[in-house]
Amino acid sequence: MTLPTPANNTKGRLLIVGATGLIGCYLAEASIDSGHPTYILVRPGSGFSPCKANTIKFLQEKGAIVIRGLVNDKELMEKILKEHKIEIVISAVGGESILDQLALVEAMKAVGTIKRFLPSEFGHDVDRANPVEPGLRMYQEKRRIRRMIEEYKLPYTYICCNSIASWPYYDNNHPSEVVPPLDQFQIYGDGSVKAYFVAGSDIGKFTMKAVDDVRTLNMSIHFRPACNFYNMNELASLWESKIGRTLPRITVSEDDLLGAAAENVIPQSVVASFTHDIFIKGCQIDFLIDGPNEAEVSTLYPDESFRTLDECFDEFVVKIKKTVDNEGIKAPNAMVEPIAITATCG
Ligand SMILES: NC(=O)c1ccc[n+]([C@@H]2O[C@H](COP(=O)([O-])OP(=O)(O)OC[C@H]3O[C@@H](n4cnc5c(N)ncnc54)[C@H](OP(=O)(O)O)[C@@H]3O)[C@@H](O)[C@H]2O)c1
Repeated sequence: MTLPTPANNTKGRLLIVGATGLIGCYLAEASIDSGHPTYILVRPGSGFSPCKANTIKFLQEKGAIVIRGLVNDKELMEKILKEHKIEIVISAVGGESILDQLALVEAMKAVGTIKRFLPSEFGHDVDRANPVEPGLRMYQEKRRIRRMIEEYKLPYTYICCNSIASWPYYDNNHPSEVVPPLDQFQIYGDGSVKAYFVAGSDIGKFTMKAVDDVRTLNMSIHFRPACNFYNMNELASLWESKIGRTLPRITVSEDDLLGAAAENVIPQSVVASFTHDIFIKGCQIDFLIDGPNEAEVSTLYPDESFRTLDECFDEFVVKIKKTVDNEGIKAPNAMVEPIAITATCG
């Protein structure tokens, strides 16, 4: 089968692995918007679920070229990279598939033409943070990919974008797809430890800026938007101001989070271990960004604004109202279960 080729373009051909996932979809959308000819690697089985099929269709209609295959198939990856003259690779495989990237890294080394690789990171600086298990295992795997990239001298950028903008549920690895609480808040510890929140669309937007920027070559790029720096208590107050009422606040202690992590239920326990690291230990704020190979994204792009958490919470309210209208649910305070949001890229 002959695959379609994108129109001539001066921007490098870019392959995204994991575009049907939460973060990958934002990256693919931003890549297409930035004018890179964008290829997305889609697993053969992906698309059987209506949600994934919608994402693929959405990205295809925007201009993405779909290639079917597995990232852990080294020969196939070599073939794809060569045949499509790929210059940039971004991976957003999920936490359970981090080591699937080993074959991709080998393939990139073999072809020798990749100008930039962004491995699946999109969270904390995994060389600095030390969550408890089972989160630690994922960080050890991400570190292993980092060391291999560096050993093979592949040009790279590590994106440390901190938390996705949402209520940080400690048992849900895609919290941005769930509206903030409508019955009670679960506050971690005393609720005073701050974290950075970044809208999914901004993870895409600033990642694409970094891809096209020579200053970010072989660097870790940290996302610390000053406008989105909140602790749990402030986050709860912001949400209360949106829904126009106050909710009870229940404390989830350090021991509760450690207990949830120790249960080793995947992926919930992984999220519990990261929640402990962020909101008890303060892993996003316990270091300065002052190393020779790291930069903060707002200092690189001072004229670019971030979507505020305030705006993201407004959007959650709109989504609640739509659900209420469509499903005849009476009012937010009648709801106990969080409403899942079905969306293409959030
Ligand atoms: N900062 C944050 O708040 C935050 C939040 C979530 C995730 N993250 C990080 O972002 C990264 C992506 O996570 P995610 O939650 O977006 O992942 P996800 O939703 O689970 O999506 C994973 C994607 O990878 C694809 N994939 C997995 N194994 C593959 C393989 N062998 N070959 C080809 N494709 C494969 C999946 O395809 P299928 O569609 O076939 O399953 C899917 O498209 C991870 O590093 C994660 O730690 C950060």
